[in-house]
Formats: sequence, C-alpha cells, structure tokens
Amino acid sequence: MKYLAVLGRQPEISVAELEALFGEIKKISNKLAVFKSETKPLIDRLGGSMKLAELVDEKPLEYLRKLPEGKITLGVSDYSHGASKKTATIESLKLKKILVRHGRSVRVVENKDAAISTATSLHNGLSGKNERKVELVKVNDEWYRVVGVQDIEAYAKRDQARPARDAKVGMLPPKLAQVLINLCGDLPKGSRILDPFCGTGVVLQEALLMGYKAYGTDINERMVEYSDKNMKHFGFTDYEVEVGDATNHDWQGKIDAVACEGYLGKPMSTVPVEIKLKTEKQECKAIILGFLKNLGAQISSGTPVVIAVPAWLREDGKYSRLEILDEIGDMGYNVYNKSREGLLYHREGQIVARDIIILRKD
Ligand SMILES: C[S@@+](CC[C@H](N)C(=O)[O-])C[C@H]1O[C@@H](n2cnc3c(N)ncnc32)[C@H](O)[C@@H]1O
Repeated sequence: MKYLAVLGRQPEISVAELEALFGEIKKISNKLAVFKSETKPLIDRLGGSMKLAELVDEKPLEYLRKLPEGKITLGVSDYSHGASKKTATIESLKLKKILVRHGRSVRVVENKDAAISTATSLHNGLSGKNERKVELVKVNDEWYRVVGVQDIEAYAKRDQARPARDAKVGMLPPKLAQVLINLCGDLPKGSRILDPFCGTGVVLQEALLMGYKAYGTDINERMVEYSDKNMKHFGFTDYEVEVGDATNHDWQGKIDAVACEGYLGKPMSTVPVEIKLKTEKQECKAIILGFLKNLGAQISSGTPVVIAVPAWLREDGKYSRLEILDEIGDMGYNVYNKSREGLLYHREGQIVARDIIILRKD
C-alpha cells in the first residue's frame, strides 16, 4: 500500500526516520513524502510525521459514497502545486454538493488554509479512527485518506506528567526520543535498547511505550534515581537503570540497539565566544569518543547506535559541529549519515542544537 506522510518541522529528520523504518522514501516536497508499506504505519510510533494518509485508488466521490450510512464529516487538504484555501474549499464543497444530491448528509470542515492543521483534524475527529469522519488529501491528481494524526496533546502530557524533571540536563522532547529510537531501524518487538546517558529517562520511557525493553545508565546517581522514579510513575517494569560512566562502564546483558542523547555540554543562553566553544567541544568530544570506544568492544556487529551530539550556534547563524565522524569511522563504526547537513534538531535561535549521528557497528 502507498502512504503519504506530512512531514514535521524538520523534514530531513522526518524523512530519515521513515527511511529507517520503511526503506525507500520519495520526498515530493518540503512537506510531503510517499512510501510503501505492507503493514499500516502507526502515527503514534513516529516522532517526525504530522499526518499519515493512505492512497485512495478510486475517485474521491466513489470512495465517499461507499462510506457506511450516516452523516459524513469531510475535510480536504490540498497539497497540489498552486493550492490555496480557495482550491481546497472548492473541492470539499463540490464533493459535498454531489453527495447531498445522492442523499447523504455531509458536514464540511472549514479550511483556514490549503491544508487542515493537525489541531483542527484532531478537534474534528478526522484522525482516521471514525469511518465517516474523513480527511482527504489531494496531491495533484492523487487522493489520499488520512489514517493518523500526531496527537500533540498526548506528547505534551507524557512530557509534563513525569514527576522527576531537570531543566539542566535539557528536556529531550518525547517526539525526538522516538525519532532516535526509530533511526535504529525496524527493531523486533521486545528488543533491548540501551541509553548510556539516560538522564531523566525520556528515551527509556518512549522505548517502553513502543514495546521495547529499556536499559539506562548515567554517570550521575541523581539522574538514575530520576529515571527510576519516572519509569515507576508510568507503571513500567521491563527496564533496568544503574549508575555508570559511559566511557568505562560494563553493560550487562544483550544490547540490541543504542539510542541516546549524549552529553550536550553546559547549558548556554548566549552564543559562546571562541575560547569557550573550544573547551566545550573538547570536553564533549572526549566523552562521546570515549563512550563509543568503550561501547564498540561490548556490542555485536550490526548493532545500530544513534546518538545526538551537541552543535553550537555561531554569530553568523550557522551551527558549529563536532568534527568526529572520521574518528568514529576509525573505531569500527559505519557512519550512515556522513553528509548529515539535515539531521540537526533545533528551534529557531536555540544555542545548543542536537546533531543526530546514525551508526552501525562494523
Ligand atoms: C543531555 S543529558 C540527557 C538527558 C536525557 N535524554 C533525559 O531524558 O533527561 C546528558 C546526560 O549525560 C550524563 N553524562 C555526562 N557525562 C557522562 C558520562 N561520562 N557517562 C554517562 N553519563 C554521562 C549527564 O549526567 C546527563 O544526565
């Protein structure tokens, strides 16, 4: 089946996530990508996609006419070349008119733009759960039906509900934690995922929610306690946490994948001056390379390792990255995203960005 994904704020990261799970992805614009999947992809497991829709392989009207009896709620998002609020509205009203003529009762969700926002989709129940509440997506001459919409509120709740939080270690958004896990590939259910810089446990929590086992270690005892408290709060049992320095720790048991946000250096509120940047870079580089060297001796060949490392905003608005890929390659890892221009996660003006590196042990 052919699927369409409406990509998130950082489309390159969304595409990389889809690619890791579904193989070949065709990016058709900065907002959209199409891909094939035998099984229906689940929006709740994807951190980087805003909406998922499946191809409707008949005319939209024929499709709508076959819907079970009762009132239809219809929204149309138009992503075609040159689309606007007007083109989307014309399509939805045209469909409504014919359906009404055929005796169907229809409510049209008003477009504020060419595409319906995720908030409006959720608010109107167009997330694919109700057969008669339909959001159709038009992309030139193809039509798709939305089968999943990212539940923004659920992510916010998961983030805020955690009893142990610490602003200093940074707040890894649950969505990004999912992306880091998914970039490890389509892992079998029950795989055991290690986060050696687990902090308050966002990666552990998301891994457990996705049906994996979680193993977290951190150099800071307080962080390990925080992770433990947070996992207990969610009622998880299939996890282990312990104190350990990632540069020399002996991890126990089988490790199927490693997904983590590594040490990101000191929190910063202004662009660092050259000398400060240099010392920060040295410190982070030593920890990350020390960790990868230690890890390399303990995982088997083919194990995926996805790590977010820091990159710092410069005065010119570009990010200064850690130059570590060659050294990582020399340590016996395959670097998957060598030209990693796009896998930089940050908000507008954020000083420390997260630079995602995808590796696999040789
Ligand atoms: C950016 S935070 C990770 C936050 C985490 N993703 C969370 O959900 O809260 C980095 C973590 O790395 C830990 N850390 C720093 N150096 C370390 C080392 N050498 N070994 C293990 N953990 C380390 C810090 O204590 C901190 O919790």
